[in-house]
Amino acid sequence: METLITVINGPNLNLLGTREPELYGTESLDSIVARLTRRIHEAGHRSSHFQSNSEGAIIDHIHTLGAERKRIALLNPGAFTHTSLALRDAVLAVRLPFIEVHLSNPAQRGGIRTHSYFTDLAIGLVSGFGPLSYDLALDAALHFLHHPSSFPREASHGHP
Ligand code: DQA
Repeated sequence: METLITVINGPNLNLLGTREPELYGTESLDSIVARLTRRIHEAGHRSSHFQSNSEGAIIDHIHTLGAERKRIALLNPGAFTHTSLALRDAVLAVRLPFIEVHLSNPAQRGGIRTHSYFTDLAIGLVSGFGPLSYDLALDAALHFLHHPSSFPREASHGHP
């Protein structure tokens, strides 16, 4: 059975393209998602995308992924990266394997952005490449699905 590769984006990422383009680039979220969706289907997998500005809505969406046997997420929690213990608990509750994605490099930006509630749970982290971060994360997800043993065992808390 093919795997569900789901792209999950948190608050303000619906504004990509116009939001602080010097930090996040000029490509819209629709354009990024269309490209990822095409690539996921070409690789023979199922795709979904979810974006919300509401913490509870993202948590509810993550809960629905508990029913999927084979799934992996490309997760950009936006500012919830640095604040949301509840979102972290949701990921743990359904043992969602995920790659953490950021357009900017939060570690470089200082302050609260240097802490992530997700990195220690992630298979891996891709950040700092603008919209290309999503593509690189998808490359890694596809590689992970096809060669899981080439990744450090402890990198993923829940294998697809
Ligand atoms: C972000 C980084 C976060 O610190 C910020 O709050 C965002 C976007 C990124 O993709 O670079 O909303 O997740």
